[in-house]
Formats: sequence, structure tokens, C-alpha cells
Amino acid sequence: MTNDQSELTDPTFPADFLWGAATAAYQIEGSAAEDGRTPSIWDTFSRTPGKVRNGDTGDVACDHYRRAPEDVKLMAELGLRSYRFSLSWPRIQPGGSGPANEAGLDFYRRLVDDLLGHGIEPWVTLYHWDLPQALEDAGGWPARDTAARFAEYAELAVAALGDRVRYWTTLNEPWCSAFLGYGSGVHAPGRSDGADAVRAGHHLMLGHGLAAQAMRASRADAEVGVTLNLYAISPLTGSPADADAARRIDGLANRFFLDPILRGEYPADVVADLREVTDFGHVRDEDLAVISTPLSVLGVNYYSRYVVGAPPEGEEPGPHWRKPSTWPGSEHVMFGDRGLPVTDMNWEIDAPGMVEVLTRLHREYPELPLYVTENGSAFIDEVVDGEVHDADRLAYFDAHLRACHEAIAAGVPLRGYFAWSLMDNFEWAWGYSKRFGMVYVDYETQARIPKSSAKWYAAVIRNNGLAAQ
Ligand code: FCB
Repeated sequence: MTNDQSELTDPTFPADFLWGAATAAYQIEGSAAEDGRTPSIWDTFSRTPGKVRNGDTGDVACDHYRRAPEDVKLMAELGLRSYRFSLSWPRIQPGGSGPANEAGLDFYRRLVDDLLGHGIEPWVTLYHWDLPQALEDAGGWPARDTAARFAEYAELAVAALGDRVRYWTTLNEPWCSAFLGYGSGVHAPGRSDGADAVRAGHHLMLGHGLAAQAMRASRADAEVGVTLNLYAISPLTGSPADADAARRIDGLANRFFLDPILRGEYPADVVADLREVTDFGHVRDEDLAVISTPLSVLGVNYYSRYVVGAPPEGEEPGPHWRKPSTWPGSEHVMFGDRGLPVTDMNWEIDAPGMVEVLTRLHREYPELPLYVTENGSAFIDEVVDGEVHDADRLAYFDAHLRACHEAIAAGVPLRGYFAWSLMDNFEWAWGYSKRFGMVYVDYETQARIPKSSAKWYAAVIRNNGLAAQ
């Protein structure tokens, strides 16, 4: 790797800052039916016509299941200190119950050993959205039993890998699993019912708590956390109605998960907002104590900000305010923008929002160590003479790392940063049409081409800091 920067002096990061990159099983592995793996909800969903752009599936993806050794070499060349990846539940426990599938576990045993051999700390996520289809057929996350199944799977994973893996994340972005999977239905399993989305959110958190307890019981030294996708949120104007819209979306997107997990209670205003959707009858007395099992770390995925407001005066609620809804009970909230530059996902680029999210967490939960477990951007890439000059993505990373540094300077215990993503991959409902990688993947040949952002990131890691501005 070449060092694209001559001067990398300031800002520097804490000496033990954990520099990494992230991926997820269904997005990169392929080999969907190898070694006993059974379908997950994403296999079923992506094979359902009209659900994923271009009819793309994860059948082959980046072929990482067969190319893991080369991919680890690439990580080592980039100088990654840590690699965040997820385990495929249906590889490890086909069908979602019963004993472990050793062939599936072996893949992860080899991967972990290889990472450690290259001095790369493995950071394992247990659930990055690929619920075994059999469990969805039995009711999915809206069913309470799924939480118990998840804890069992967590025990199998920790029994196999806990001697070598220190950092464990139970769930990645339960908001997406619950509200996109069961609310709007734009993600697998593609159901749309507000009450189910809320139940799913609860059982995901219950599964997280049960899994955290089971993992700690088996390995007292495990660092157990959860990753939430948190947003900076602003009202469109200073009007009270817009402030209420911002409160509602902050409630559903952020506090619906933060409060139960970190305070052991649902926010009363969110429960009130959801009154017509659900009576929360699915919550049992003992659940919140389990859900709020103390975390070792909190993972934060930050991409953008929501700017929201009330509908224009006089507009009557119509069917367009109703189902299928990502925001049950708050369908009337309008999403606007501030005219900032956007990525290829049409997400506004708002690095100050990241400082806002991190400092808010520190203010509200002062003791909690934080990691940015995902941050990155999709842009349209072009291969020219075998190279990809992704100046926009590089600038995005640079701005957000400066935001991280600002947060650290303000006293936030931010311990590490994982770029999303190590390589281009299956971007869920967008299929392969959106590229988030620091490494370009040619899906025809499976060639990997480190983009300019990857070479730049390698230099940042080497220097433990960014160029002075
Ligand atoms: C996050 C997901 C990740 C990827 C990025 C772009 O919501 O965790 O898998 O899709 O968005």
C-alpha cells in the first residue's frame, strides 16, 4: 500500500484506538447452501420477485466463504487492527434450533485463527439480520420464543469461539430488523404490521439480554455489547409541531432501544405515541431487567441525520399516512432535508451529527465505552486503468473521523472505529447497486481492488491519525 499523505501529524488518536472495518455474513459470504447452511429470511426475501433491486441475492455475493484467506491477507495489508464480521446463524445452527453444525463453525474457527495469526482482533456480531427461515415460519421476531432460540445460538457460538474472541456484539441494528423487517416490510421477512414491529423490537432486545447473560455465564471475560443505528435528529423549523415530530422520531429510532437497554424502561412518551398500535401486552414484568443487563460496550452505527417536521397545516391524515409504515403511530411525520450534499443512498452527509450522537450518549450514559461499529458511504465508483479513485468516499471518512476526534477531545470514551465496509457487497434491498466498500469488488471475476479510500485509511491507521488541515 502506498502512503497517499506526506504529513499525518494531527489530529492523533489515543494509542490503543481500535481501527477496523466491518462486513456482515449475508452481504459477503455467498455459498448459501454449502456445508449444511439452510435458508435465512434474506434468502427467501431476495428470491421473492420485486423485493431486491435487479433480483439480486446473496447466493454468491463476494464469495468470501471460499476466499476468506485472501481477504484476511488484504486486511493485513491494509493494516487493520480489528475486523468486525457476523456469524451466519443458519450456518451454525441450521433451522435455528438443535445442536451446532460443526462444518459451519469450522469456517469461523479458521477465520478467527487466521485473523489472530495476522494480529487482527476479531469482533463478532451474532445477528446481522439473517434469521433462519424456520424460525420465521414459527413466528419470527414477533414471537417470544425467538428470543430464547437466539440465546441458545449465542451459547453455541461462544462455546466454539469464546476462547479466541473477546468482543461480541449480540445484535446489529435491531431497529432495522424490527421496523424495516416487520413494519414497512422493505427488509426481510417483508411483513408490515405496526404491532408486530413493536413486538419484534421487544423480543430482539429480550434476545439480546438473554444472550448477554448466557455468554457472560460461559465466559466471564467476554466483552458483550449491542450495536444500534443512532441518528442525529433535528426539527425542520422551530415550531412546536416540528419539535414534536423530532421527539417522536427520536423516540422510535433512538430511545425505543436506548432506554430499555440502558435504563431498563420504555420511554413513556413513545409508549403513548404507540397507544393505537399496541398496548405493550407482550412485555412481561421480568423482561426489562433482562434487557438492561449491563453492557461492556455500546456499538454505534452512524450514517446521517433525520430532519423532520409536522405535515403542512390543514392536511388531513390520508391512507398515505398509514401502512405499510416504518414509523408506526407517527406516520404523519414528514422527512425533509437541509440541502446538504448526499451520498448515492441519498443520505445527507452530516459529520457534525456524529459528534452530536456521540456526545449525547456520553452525557446520558457517562460510564459507557463507545465504539463506532459502522460508518461509511455509497458512491458510484469507476475503475480506470485498474484503479478506483473514490475521492467522495475518502472525504466522507475523513470528515467523520475528524468528528470522532472532536468527540474524543470533548471527553467521549470512544475506543474504536470500524469503516463500513471492508469491501463492496450485497446492500440489502438495493442488491449490488450500491457500493460502500473501501475495496472494490468486481462481481464478474471476484477481483478485489483497494480504492483510494483504502490506501488512505491504511495510512491513517499506520499514523494513528489524520493529516493536519
Ligand atoms: C447498515 C447495515 C449494514 C449496511 C449499512 C450501509 O444499516 O448494518 O449492513 O447495509 O447500513
